[in-house]
Amino acid sequence: MPTLLIVHHTPSPATAEMFDAVLRGATDPDITGVDVVRRAALAATASDVLAADGLLLGTPANIGYMSGALKHFFDQIYYPVLDDTKGLPYGLFVHGNLGTEGAVNSVTSIAEGLNWKQVTEPAVITGPPDKKALERCYELGATLAATLMP
Ligand SMILES: Cc1cc2nc3c(=O)[nH]c(=O)nc-3n(C[C@H](O)[C@H](O)[C@H](O)COP(=O)(O)O)c2cc1C
Repeated sequence: MPTLLIVHHTPSPATAEMFDAVLRGATDPDITGVDVVRRAALAATASDVLAADGLLLGTPANIGYMSGALKHFFDQIYYPVLDDTKGLPYGLFVHGNLGTEGAVNSVTSIAEGLNWKQVTEPAVITGPPDKKALERCYELGATLAATLMP
């Protein structure tokens, strides 16, 4: 069964709400035949990535960059997966008030280095996530999972 891996650093209420909505979308009952696996960024491994057919990444904007936890994830998986994950479909969700563009750019430039393929626009949310913001996150999760449906 194809596997969608969600790697997230979501320690605060806003990012956790976004993660929950992404997960609900990824596990929408209309999407069948896709295994959804979630890992905190500090626990995710290269083996998790090598076993995945698609990836969702989530982070707050910290000092205008991705979180240190997500950067640590990339630092440890980059070379071990480089040759074997070209074209991996991925999506991204980011929360912040300032510097979200830098967070998005930091993730997309590393993903470009890995030759991963971003399948839809990142969900970038500012302030407390409202209904529309959470719907966007749901849609992001559902889109990635639907992409992997057999
Ligand atoms: C080390 C650190 C740096 C941060 N830098 C920024 C930042 O540059 N811009 C910003 O909007 N928020 C920054 N934050 C706050 C987080 O982005 C914020 O916690 C996250 O967006 C979730 O929002 P919430 O705390 O309201 O749930 C930072 C948090 C930490 C721990």
